[in-house]
Amino acid sequence: MEKRAFGVVFLLAIASISQTVAQTLLTHGSIPVEKLFLGPLPVTQIRLYFHNVAAGPKATAYRIANSSITNTSPTLFGFLNMIDNLLTASPDPNSPQLGRAQGLYGSADLNAIGFFINFNFYFTSGPYNGSTLNIIGRDAVFSNNRELSVGGGTGHFRLANGIVTARTISGDVATMNAVFEFNITVYQPIP
Ligand SMILES: *[C@@H]1O[C@H](CO)[C@@H](O)[C@H](O)[C@H]1NC(C)=O
Ligand SMILES: *[C@@H]1O[C@H](CO)[C@@H](O)[C@H](O)[C@H]1NC(C)=O
Ligand SMILES: *[C@@H]1O[C@H](CO)[C@@H](O)[C@H](O)[C@H]1NC(C)=O
Repeated sequence: MEKRAFGVVFLLAIASISQTVAQTLLTHGSIPVEKLFLGPLPVTQIRLYFHNVAAGPKATAYRIANSSITNTSPTLFGFLNMIDNLLTASPDPNSPQLGRAQGLYGSADLNAIGFFINFNFYFTSGPYNGSTLNIIGRDAVFSNNRELSVGGGTGHFRLANGIVTARTISGDVATMNAVFEFNITVYQPIP
């Protein structure tokens, strides 16, 4: 009997926490990211730099498809690039290598520059060596205030969830060679 009472209290507590989380999420525009979750969810902060090299002998980003309107579309709608881009610790491509960004990006907005991205950030050195983080979202590459999602992860990042902010450090529209900064906040229910 006591056990059951405890169970009910526990469920009520969870329900009220969930409600608070839901309310917080609904108004997250005015609430700092670190307040989105209640309780001691382990948080990992990672800053890294993404080198998109789409032209030249050292290219790591390749066009794999165009749509029937890519060449006439103001947003290059429907192009798709496959990448294996370098991730480093600072904007300098010769700075310590952290891993590779492997995956796809393409133009998915007919009217504005809004790329679809799906990258696996594959760490090849440091404390996360061998682990991956899946970064997905709508990437308005001309905006310096863009937000992406952490969709999941493996290894060190199992059950990961999180938020990514990105900005362009340098870029060339003609070649699509560019360096992006990513600030990644990872939340995990396990340490
Ligand atoms: C896509 O179109 C661009 C621009 O015309 C061209 O350079 C490229 O070769 C095309 N790529 C594919 C995979 O069709
Ligand atoms: C990363 O892990 C791989 C596989 O375990 C290992 O071969 C490699 O030496 C490690 N690299 C670094 C820089 O720690
Ligand atoms: C990343 O965080 C640093 C330090 O807080 C900040 O200066 C920078 O503007 C942030 N960049 C992005 C893309 O959020």
